[in-house]
Amino acid sequence: MKVAVLGLGYVGLPLALAIKKRTNHDVVGYDPKAEKVDKILKGICPIEDAQAERDLKEVKLKASTNEEIIDGSDIYFVCVPTPVLDDYTPDLRPLTSAIETIAKFLHRGQYVVIESTVNPGVCDELVVPMLENLTGLKVVKDFNVVHCPERINPGDPKWNVYNIPRNIGSTSPEATKFIADFYRSVLDAEIHEMPDLKTTEATKIIENTFRDINIAFVNELAKSFEVLGIDILAVINGASNKPFAFLPHYPGCGVGGHCIPVDPYYLIDRASKSGFDHKFLKLAREINNSMPAHTVNHLVDALNKFSKSVKGTRIALLGLSYKPNLGDLRESPALKIKKLLEEKEADLVCFDPYVKEFSNVASIEEALTGAFAILLATAHNEFRVINGELLSKYEVKVVIDGRNFLDKEDIQKYGIYYKGIGR
Ligand SMILES: NC(=O)c1ccc[n+]([C@@H]2O[C@H](COP(=O)([O-])OP(=O)(O)OC[C@H]3O[C@@H](n4cnc5c(N)ncnc54)[C@H](O)[C@@H]3O)[C@@H](O)[C@H]2O)c1
Repeated sequence: MKVAVLGLGYVGLPLALAIKKRTNHDVVGYDPKAEKVDKILKGICPIEDAQAERDLKEVKLKASTNEEIIDGSDIYFVCVPTPVLDDYTPDLRPLTSAIETIAKFLHRGQYVVIESTVNPGVCDELVVPMLENLTGLKVVKDFNVVHCPERINPGDPKWNVYNIPRNIGSTSPEATKFIADFYRSVLDAEIHEMPDLKTTEATKIIENTFRDINIAFVNELAKSFEVLGIDILAVINGASNKPFAFLPHYPGCGVGGHCIPVDPYYLIDRASKSGFDHKFLKLAREINNSMPAHTVNHLVDALNKFSKSVKGTRIALLGLSYKPNLGDLRESPALKIKKLLEEKEADLVCFDPYVKEFSNVASIEEALTGAFAILLATAHNEFRVINGELLSKYEVKVVIDGRNFLDKEDIQKYGIYYKGIGR
């Protein structure tokens, strides 16, 4: 068969490489970003994914910015972004544009597989009608639409495209079985057949919403325990030895990435169109969105104790990406913190060993030089060296630990002011 992958990012590229590596199918990739395609053609991995980097060394992928490359495919995999607009409603433009591209080439007997995360109803209410209207073909009779939401966790040393189980639903049981068998021929993981498209779409959305509301819960607890004078980490450690029905989540300076702070809005929006108000999910989003400002308020309060203002004070912001040990900036709370500190006219230095282009110093030591306060926003391993001794050597007076990552007692031992989130 010929298979096409539309969108060669964190989701599409590992998938295309896996199909190429494990099968004899002709695999092609289409992505409008020339820079990305050029790198892939040169064997350079454009994403931070260790498995994809290894696979790209083993196999050569056909990729192009010209959509003609997907012509004649038996299966089209859609792995394009599904972000939100400024008003937090779904931005389905990359998806509709990918569907328009596929419609130009779609023929009888072909399959369109949506791997992008979408709310319940997108496949039935948008993808199928678009393809029918644009091609004159009839769903099930002529073509099928399948949803197989990706769950990849970039940077995860254990879980990758090959071993993460998948759920598959579609427009017909035969199509579900056919595409499930296709995935079984590529992946090692369990491939679970779902009743339909809507159920499959909802499954993916609730997985990420589960994370968002649990993080919101601990973020709210963190704010409460700050006024109650209770250390939230000690509480979570205590609760975690319950052998059932407690799952630890940890508070922090905000939730980032392309999935967790985005996907709940897709469900909120679609349910609201059918008359249901997701109050709980909205509140979770509100709490998590409040964390960057809450963290900056800790800094304001700390500086106040030293009769200082943020304005004009040298502050080192450590970490810009949303996730430890990766340089992904999508929806990063550190960027919101950066903006707030810039608005308050801080004398700001930023350092992230994974995001050199947005760092204005080249090392931790350089960031600490002359800094009155540090605000740690990402728990990169490189920041493990930051301890009381190093901070006192550079005469840092205030530590705001947005990830509860540094050793509070050690830092306080040196007479340095320490404030974490909820401790
Ligand atoms: N990144 C993750 O950890 C992750 C995990 C699971 C699911 N997802 C979901 O997978 C989808 C893709 O996410 P991603 O992280 O791979 O995004 P990404 O931004 O890394 O990659 C998407 C790629 O699609 C390309 N693209 C945009 N419009 C296109 C079009 N019309 N046709 C073809 N290509 C197009 C972009 O240029 C980009 O290279 C999203 O729905 C996301 O929610 C992401």
